[in-house]
Amino acid sequence: MSYALSLRCRKCGGEYPLQAQNLCDFCFGPLDVAYDYKAMAASLTRDKIARGPVSMWRYADLLPIAGEPVDLGTGFTPLTRADNLGRLLGLEQLYIKNDCLNPTWSFKDRAVAVAVTKARELGFTTIACASTGNLAASVAAHAVKAGLKSYVFFPSDIEQGKIVSTAIHNPTLVAVQGSYDKVNHLCHRLVEAYGWGFININLRPYYAEGSKTLGYEIAEQLGWRSPDRILAPSASGLLFTRIWKGLNELSMLGLIGPVNTHMHCVQAAGSSPIVNAFENGTLHVLPVEPQTIAKSIAVGNPADGNYALKAARESGGTAASVSDDEIIEGIRLLAETEGIFSEPAGGVVIGALRKMAKSGIIRSQDVTVACITGSGLKTQEIVSDSVRPVTIEPSLQSFESMVCVPNVTAASD
Ligand SMILES: Cc1ncc(COP(=O)(O)O)c(C=O)c1O
Ligand SMILES: [Zn+2]
Repeated sequence: MSYALSLRCRKCGGEYPLQAQNLCDFCFGPLDVAYDYKAMAASLTRDKIARGPVSMWRYADLLPIAGEPVDLGTGFTPLTRADNLGRLLGLEQLYIKNDCLNPTWSFKDRAVAVAVTKARELGFTTIACASTGNLAASVAAHAVKAGLKSYVFFPSDIEQGKIVSTAIHNPTLVAVQGSYDKVNHLCHRLVEAYGWGFININLRPYYAEGSKTLGYEIAEQLGWRSPDRILAPSASGLLFTRIWKGLNELSMLGLIGPVNTHMHCVQAAGSSPIVNAFENGTLHVLPVEPQTIAKSIAVGNPADGNYALKAARESGGTAASVSDDEIIEGIRLLAETEGIFSEPAGGVVIGALRKMAKSGIIRSQDVTVACITGSGLKTQEIVSDSVRPVTIEPSLQSFESMVCVPNVTAASD
């Protein structure tokens, strides 16, 4: 059952049917899905959600889709207590939301699952996207599942793991010689020229809604409450705004109490237009030229940057950036304390978390959730210098002469 009513302009309130359109014809404001929240509230309960599938589809009533979802099993990823990392940072209630554990190893599966389901409902036979890498793999995989053709466009200098994990699904791969912002600009022109369903352009209102499920899960997994703080990485800024929206919807529907969560938007210092605006106290995000190892979030002109800025301010949160070295340290710290291998976007989160714990922005008792949104298996080259094996002959003697083992006192263990 879908409670989605229409697309509504965020700026002027203009209404449109639930079609493939992302901007208002009158004021060019972004369109969002509008819902019948009254009817939704009357039928939704915590129990009903909890009885649903162990995936993002347990929240199907809160999403703008009518029929069968294109389902790769996305969502309901672990929210794990990070006691080892927390102890190091002096945080007693730290959690990791591990969205590496989605079908194509990033949170993008949430957004894509909804957008591709909608694309199929709307009768598209070809879907496409402008991607920094994770979206590409997700779109290619979902296209296969839905029986659609796909074209994925990405900057030619992204990591090999991102390209291979996309190529394996056999989409038409288009490597564009230019930054993500250039790729995105090209794709806006292709929407007009070809009329395909571009997942993050003309289908953006639906794509945006998929990301809300990350916020829903955090609240449900904490026992139906919103945390004190959430840290999430931002590229276009959309995920950040939708986690915030998700929490506020649950509260409005009476499924959780008031939301007192401080939202912390984190970016790589080499691509931090939202953080710059936050620090300068300006209302508008100004574009930058990205230069960072965190390629998945290297977006210089973020489409939802102003809204992410607003969510950070409105929630009493902050925006913070970390250097490339701090990103790598963050990746290592998470891997060595919690056993989770993140890509650079997660290194940004952990780097920022460490700084904020040190400076006292996050207090030891704060229930804090760090969102790890993509897997390090796709970006292995960044930490490949970790590989320093001791090479030995296949003999006990070689092992004992080459590997330093602490004194063994009993043979029984
Ligand atoms: C791993 C990862 N985390 C976070 C983001 C940020 O997404 P958004 O564009 O919604 O801000 C991206 C975007 O590509 C990503 O790949
Ligand atoms: Zn408008």
